[in-house]
Amino acid sequence: MKKLFVLIALVGVAGMSLTSCGSKKEEKKEEADAYNDYETAEPKAASAEDQIAQGQALVDGSDCKTCHHPTNKIVGPAHMEVAKKYEFTKANVTMLAGKIINGGSGNWGEIPMSPHADVSQADAEKMAMYVLSLDGEKPKD
Ligand code: HEC
Repeated sequence: MKKLFVLIALVGVAGMSLTSCGSKKEEKKEEADAYNDYETAEPKAASAEDQIAQGQALVDGSDCKTCHHPTNKIVGPAHMEVAKKYEFTKANVTMLAGKIINGGSGNWGEIPMSPHADVSQADAEKMAMYVLSLDGEKPKD
């Protein structure tokens, strides 16, 4: 009697592990899909978001606020207006980063923007990304 019980138990376990094996495969597939998403879309989007967040911190920690308000014109144009004027492209990020570092005038009026020679190209690009993100636009290639 005991032996029969053990046998039934064994068959039961074997049966269970067979069915659970099937569902495990499903899980694995989902995991693989998630991993593929992660490999393709996610890191790029996440890193752009990180750069924008870092750019905001850099702008907040720099002298930009003396002349720029997010939505109101002070000495310089509202950063929101800058965001609306330019598409969020790599070329415009590079162009505006150059403007942040070297300063300049003529795009918004005759008042010049002061240069920021101590700001690195990478940091200036993050600042430009933050400014360009203000109108809700997502980065394009
Ligand atoms: C002394 C005042 C002043 C400071 C400080 C300043 N800006 Fe400006 N900024 C301006 C003015 C004025 C303009 C408009 C220049 C023009 O007409 O081309 C401008 C323009 C810009 C533009 C648009 C450039 C373009 O070509 O359209 C960006 C982006 C910008 N500033 C970002 C920044 C950031 C980021 C900082 C801080 C690191 C900063 N500014 C600090 C005065 C300033």
